[in-house]
Amino acid sequence: MRKPIIAGNWKMNNTQKEAVELITALKPRLKDVGKTEVVVCVPYTCIEKVKKAVRGSKIKVGAENVAWADKGAFTGEISAAMLKEVGAEYVIIGHSERRQYFGETDESVNKRTVQALKNDLKPIVCIGETLDEREEGKTNAVLKTQIEGAFAGFTQDDIKKVVIAYEPVWAIGTGKTATSEQANESIKFIRKTLAKLFTRPVANKVRIQYGGSMNAKNAHELMSMSDIDGGLIGGASLKAEDFEKVVKFNG
Ligand code: PGA
Repeated sequence: MRKPIIAGNWKMNNTQKEAVELITALKPRLKDVGKTEVVVCVPYTCIEKVKKAVRGSKIKVGAENVAWADKGAFTGEISAAMLKEVGAEYVIIGHSERRQYFGETDESVNKRTVQALKNDLKPIVCIGETLDEREEGKTNAVLKTQIEGAFAGFTQDDIKKVVIAYEPVWAIGTGKTATSEQANESIKFIRKTLAKLFTRPVANKVRIQYGGSMNAKNAHELMSMSDIDGGLIGGASLKAEDFEKVVKFNG
């Protein structure tokens, strides 16, 4: 059985003050989250404050990116050791916004993920096709290339520690959710690809989230599909009431 994991992706939202306010509102609402693992991935500047604010709750804290080097002349980057020091446990890697606006490639995603694992940070690796790619029937080919690139050189032990977020780019922040069937089909394909690269039992252990306009209304249906193990939540993670409803997708 794979443990469901709902992760908020705050993106470039919330000052420290706003972050603490949001966590303060979330804590009582997420007291009883049952078996679901709950993570909030927050801007670098908020990590330390959020880590303190979640004390006494089951909410875990993550970052939104990590450098692929240990240290050195990489202006603007934040290392895995720095993230660990302020209390991050998870880290999002290869989000489509990073790929689209900041030149992230499958190769850099691979290097960042290796670095996260080396430092005991749990990576949430994002993959997904654009609208053009889907319309041209290339979805599976794109996912296969992204998986082979992101996890090149990985052992079976490595891949078991990774969470994958399947996020069709056309569904992110657009209000257009993939249907639960579409999402499940792509996630099944991702699992099949992992089974070929690693083994079927290992692939069956990897948790794969859906992301892209997942919200209070559609979370239950998406989460009831066979292969969807969680969600990476953007917009709906910024309001305590909405995020609570997604986390409590079972009612
Ligand atoms: P969204 O974002 O829920 O606002 O569509 C999801 C994401 O980008 O991770």
